[in-house]
Amino acid sequence: MCGIVGYTGPRQAAPILVDGLRRLEYRGYDSAGVAIHDGKCLEVVRTLGKLRVLGEALDKRTLPGNLGVGHTRWATHGRPSEENAHPHVAGGVAVVHNGIIENHTALRKELTDGGVRFASDTDTEIVAHLVDRALRAGATDLVAAVQRALARMEGAYAIAVLSQAEPEVIVVARQGSPLVIGRGEDETLAGSDIAALLSHTRDMIFLEDGDVAELRPGKVRVETVSGARVERPSKHIDWSPVMAERGGYRHFMLKEIHEQPEAVSATLRGRIDLDAGDVHAAEIGLDPAVASRIRRVYILACGTSYHASLVARYWLESIAKVPTVVELASEVRCREPLFTADDLVVAVSQSGETFDTLGACKAAKEAGAHVLAVVNVLDSAIARLAHGQLYTRAGPEIGVASTKCFTAQLAALYLLAVYLGRRRGALTPERAQAHLQALCEVPSHMHELLGDADYVRSVATKLAPARSVLYLGRGLNYPVALEGALKLKEVSYAHAEGYAAGEMKHGPIALIDADMPVVVICPRDGTYDKTVSNLQEVRARDGQVVALATRGDESLHDLAQHILWLPEVPAAVLPLLTVVPLQLLAYFVATRKGHDVDQPRNLAKTVTVE
Ligand code: G6P
Repeated sequence: MCGIVGYTGPRQAAPILVDGLRRLEYRGYDSAGVAIHDGKCLEVVRTLGKLRVLGEALDKRTLPGNLGVGHTRWATHGRPSEENAHPHVAGGVAVVHNGIIENHTALRKELTDGGVRFASDTDTEIVAHLVDRALRAGATDLVAAVQRALARMEGAYAIAVLSQAEPEVIVVARQGSPLVIGRGEDETLAGSDIAALLSHTRDMIFLEDGDVAELRPGKVRVETVSGARVERPSKHIDWSPVMAERGGYRHFMLKEIHEQPEAVSATLRGRIDLDAGDVHAAEIGLDPAVASRIRRVYILACGTSYHASLVARYWLESIAKVPTVVELASEVRCREPLFTADDLVVAVSQSGETFDTLGACKAAKEAGAHVLAVVNVLDSAIARLAHGQLYTRAGPEIGVASTKCFTAQLAALYLLAVYLGRRRGALTPERAQAHLQALCEVPSHMHELLGDADYVRSVATKLAPARSVLYLGRGLNYPVALEGALKLKEVSYAHAEGYAAGEMKHGPIALIDADMPVVVICPRDGTYDKTVSNLQEVRARDGQVVALATRGDESLHDLAQHILWLPEVPAAVLPLLTVVPLQLLAYFVATRKGHDVDQPRNLAKTVTVE
């Protein structure tokens, strides 16, 4: 959601801002804008729609200047429109903002009563007026004015502010929403995430909540909201700029599907000791004595990460023998869950910023639980909040529909199950070795599956006209059915539903007819016979079947119109593989329909609102 970019240095700001915004497009947005300082004045250009429209507006009207901020907006307060697009201006102040100012109604009233006339419906405009008012009331500089404004604001936000009076300065602040500072030799940048800045620098400063930073060319000074000086050292990022490029693929989603063997390998690298049959992951931050005492694992997640968590439940229960609960973070927050100090609470999130997951983790932490973050983005909010971090190492994921982060999460969560199993005495080194060996072989099996992409594409042409598709699976295959359906829904806009195959008779069977394709995940595992019975029930009602089956299982030819073959592997690692053809299927259906798969309508990559 909303993306922020800022630049101060010797180069022209506008092209750098637009390029940075382009790299943040994946977060989701409906309008965009920039403010540029040309040394004398601030100029603002805002447009509704895609960045192409902003680019065209900027082509018509050159905006010279070495200082600027840019923004992509995902509407929360006020509909998508040019007036509501950022930056918002008051007096000589321009502001871009990500997040929500919770006390905006009271602040708006106060400002209106004081004579301010608002030009937009946004909560952001309030910030511009508060900063402008502080400057008029004698704040010594822009930093001091922003600090005064922030002292009045409640909620989660990241902001970047320019003032006409300070032609080299950007002031940025964060409270709950992401913001990264990039340091160059003689220039300084700011962005909502690393990917926006990688082509300029790999030296980044991660602000803490409550920080306010003054950025000048090559210089960064950080203070708290109350004005106390703080040091935030810069960190060198090992993601390379090319990782955030399409690299010859038509879409990021396709590239990221193909990057899965490497994402899984990188997540396993250095953490597996095959000889000892153990997992090295001190970063989990659990004392072995505490690990053995845990009474329950409580996993919190949203979206695709929730599906990875549902898979993990099977592993944690069968491998580590620990009772496991998996909950949608957004739902947990509607209840009063009874977290205890004997819980290991695991937050699973690719972005590490999802508002609901973060909120649920805070509650768990307050209740005394040990919180572990399984996240992909270094130093993200959830990673900071947690006591331990088991990073997935998928590299930047740009496609809104998560693919490689899902399989990297599965790899990390499998490691967690083995790690806990060993420490709880539930797993012998020999059994652990077998699990870890199977996991190490996953990347090469993924390559095999990716080699069948052309066949998946041909199946996709058959599925593309369907208005609705049912995905079925049992046991470990059930969460993958959910994920397969979610992928199709996200990028192809077809209705798709994942269902536990055993529940089919309790409802979905009423939908089945010749127009209803059913994707059935039925590898030769412990659920095979029962799932094949369901498949027969579908065929008996003329349903079109796409089966995912173990290579060589010729018996399914009579039951399925199309078969996507799976390698023969131990059942426990199947979810890391069965999902690959389902991701490809969704991708090919969507591209056949001509959709923008990397930025599907209405969706955002990083959901920083409730
Ligand atoms: C959004 C994204 C999904 C993602 C979900 C949870 O809806 O579009 O791809 O699965 O948020 O995000 P997280 O960053 O917490 O994994």
